Amino acid sequence: MTDIPAPAHVRAIAPYQAGKPIEELAREYGLDPAGIIKLASNENPLGCSDRVRAALAEAAGALHGRYPDPNGFELKAALAARHQVPANWLTLGNGSNDLLELASLALLDEGTSAVYAQHAFVVYRLATQARGARHLMVPARDYGHDLDAMLAAVAGDTRLVFIANPNNPTGTHLSGPRVRAFLESVRERHGERVVVLLDEAYDEYLDPDERADSTQWVREFPNLIVTRTFSKAYGLAGLRVGYALAQPALTDLLNRVRQPFNVGVLAQLAARVALDDADFLARTYALNRAGRTQLQEGFAALGLDFVPSSANFVLVRVGEAARINGELLRRGVIVRPVAGDGLPEHLRVSIGLPEENARLLDALKAVLQA
Ligand SMILES: Cc1ncc(COP(=O)(O)O)c(C=O)c1O
Repeated sequence: MTDIPAPAHVRAIAPYQAGKPIEELAREYGLDPAGIIKLASNENPLGCSDRVRAALAEAAGALHGRYPDPNGFELKAALAARHQVPANWLTLGNGSNDLLELASLALLDEGTSAVYAQHAFVVYRLATQARGARHLMVPARDYGHDLDAMLAAVAGDTRLVFIANPNNPTGTHLSGPRVRAFLESVRERHGERVVVLLDEAYDEYLDPDERADSTQWVREFPNLIVTRTFSKAYGLAGLRVGYALAQPALTDLLNRVRQPFNVGVLAQLAARVALDDADFLARTYALNRAGRTQLQEGFAALGLDFVPSSANFVLVRVGEAARINGELLRRGVIVRPVAGDGLPEHLRVSIGLPEENARLLDALKAVLQA
């Protein structure tokens, strides 16, 4: 440890463990990168829309030396039309991760707390710790959020409740009516003192009967932030764009702590074009649905328990996850260990192309039967 006097709450942070990049595994194990598959970061196996690629290629040729539009006028206009809210209800972020940070910066401080679920997206804890606030982790129920227990956990100093729907890394989903009932209970008991951040990074993967009108709930709940991302179904993880919907008073608070130029020129453009490519989104949804069935059936055939997923990954219980992960890596297959999320017997497998899913299942079978 260094002698640099960082605050204790910063020293207490365990840094985020990202999925291993393909190049890193190739270097470490002397493998050919072309033969490695990565099913570790919930990325879109189709890449991104051809229309986005074409728009970016053209824009790259005309790239200027100026800063991006700090207010994201055009992208916000497109999102406002999509979600039927005024543009001043939108905040853009450098990925939706940025918005989680902005919410914590705007609302948390030492002497306050945030509530989140066990096995929920790890950034909720990181963003809370970074502000020196208390983090109140509520035990999961069936791998998902226990909303009753989360409501009960809200303390006098709680300012923020994080909900991931679907949740990462478990893939669990809460129905629209259940989330709405939670929002009503929070309002009844705490008014606007407690903000709920509903993180919908995987919303586009939901089946039609799972979908809720969640972006419209911001009209009724002045204490609600809904976040979405272009990283997953839209395939723009490398460009970093996400957005939040909230009423103007809350949006204004987020804007106060936002870096002025937090979303780059190409990222804003790509998101705008991606938003319009309904065909790409439909192909992504269909591929994911089929891949989810392929993986879940494959896990069942191997006698492995898994958590039925509503997202683009599946959490599977393999037992000795650290050893099995090491064996998969030796075979050029990268998945995500989740011991840091309190799940030492599980691995999280992102849904890939059919041949990638098959390769993972074959490798897993070989490792389990060795
Ligand atoms: C639940 C959840 N929220 C937010 C994010 C942040 O993604 P991004 O910053 O790429 O939008 C992720 C990324 O994996 C996630 O799983």
